[in-house]
Amino acid sequence: MFEHIQAAPADPILGLNDAYKKDENPNKINLGVGVYKDENGNTPILKAVKLAEERLLTKEQSKSYLSIEGSPAYCSAVQKLLFGQNHNIIAKQLAKTAHTPGGTGALRVAAEFIKKHLSGATIWVSNPTWANHQSVFQSVGLEVGSYSYYNANSKSLDFEALLASLSQVPEGDVVLFHGCCHNPTGIDPTPEQWYQLAKLASKQGFLPLFDFAYQGFGQDLTEDAQGLRTFLEHVPEMLIASSFSKNFGLYNERVGALTIVCDSTDQAEAAFTQVKRCIRTNYSNPPSHGSAVVSEILNDSELYSLWESELKDMRTRIHEMRSLFVNTLKSKGVDQDFSFISQQQGMFSFSGLTPDQVAQLRRDYGIYIVGSGRINVAGMTHNNMEPLCDAIAATLKS
Ligand code: LMR
Repeated sequence: MFEHIQAAPADPILGLNDAYKKDENPNKINLGVGVYKDENGNTPILKAVKLAEERLLTKEQSKSYLSIEGSPAYCSAVQKLLFGQNHNIIAKQLAKTAHTPGGTGALRVAAEFIKKHLSGATIWVSNPTWANHQSVFQSVGLEVGSYSYYNANSKSLDFEALLASLSQVPEGDVVLFHGCCHNPTGIDPTPEQWYQLAKLASKQGFLPLFDFAYQGFGQDLTEDAQGLRTFLEHVPEMLIASSFSKNFGLYNERVGALTIVCDSTDQAEAAFTQVKRCIRTNYSNPPSHGSAVVSEILNDSELYSLWESELKDMRTRIHEMRSLFVNTLKSKGVDQDFSFISQQQGMFSFSGLTPDQVAQLRRDYGIYIVGSGRINVAGMTHNNMEPLCDAIAATLKS
């Protein structure tokens, strides 16, 4: 039965992680998968998370199933984080949220919902985008198109081309935006550009799907939500896939959410029953632990403040590593201008390294970077900066 099945290619990001683990080079450096590392190269459990877990251990009474959409306390906390405490979407009950296993789970549920209920819709993703987007959407049979985003020469957002591309998207199609900290480029629209994109969405009549996996890694929790909130001043409907892997460091707990915003409470209720059908026929109902931790933190002012300050520390460390990386490359005599890396946001930088250079760095130095040239800046430390920049300088010269 299975003899005709060919092996699938390794995943461009998680496959790289597996290869890194097997590499016996004692000086290896992992700048592949988007996971935060502290100054010692560890991925810590946040203090706010540990405290929340201690509380949960004492008060948890049962391991019975959650409902299909997860716990109400979690879902309502997620909405406050997305829209702001007093947003009229919350007051008017125009949004419904389901806890999903990670941001990928949210995207997959969204994909199925779009395929079933937005008949014939194509989904448009930026060029470039996260390496898994296309596969998630194609796995439910959606047509995936791409829109212009990045200018490789100027290493910046090609806003004219972006507007021109999206002006071609017909009514009823879906456009995926990265809420902040665009993955892989680290380049986001400015507030004025978000405004123009929102106006365009309203004019064209396409549905925005926000992939929001890095809230708090760009500027702060509020600033990072500005794009999405600006859109909501101009469009009545939206899908949002949230991930709490990075901003709570809860990678292996798989905690995320899918939020649907509708034009009326009745529509939100009705559409949400269909979101729940997609979940029920997929994984039935979500795992509890990660969402219980997030909900404990978001619903407690003391834990919330602690979490916010830990998030700020992570963000600040990444900003520092960006500057250090640029300056260290310069000090190694690298002629190319890498200063654009200091302007980018979030975990990633689109370095401009070619696939051959990426392959050479891995082969000769045990330095792991995604094939597209995407570097996880959060994997840099004061300790690995010198050897990293030496290796890049040598590779660029060869
Ligand atoms: C990444 O882009 O590296 C992360 O979002 C991890 C993943 O699942 O790919």
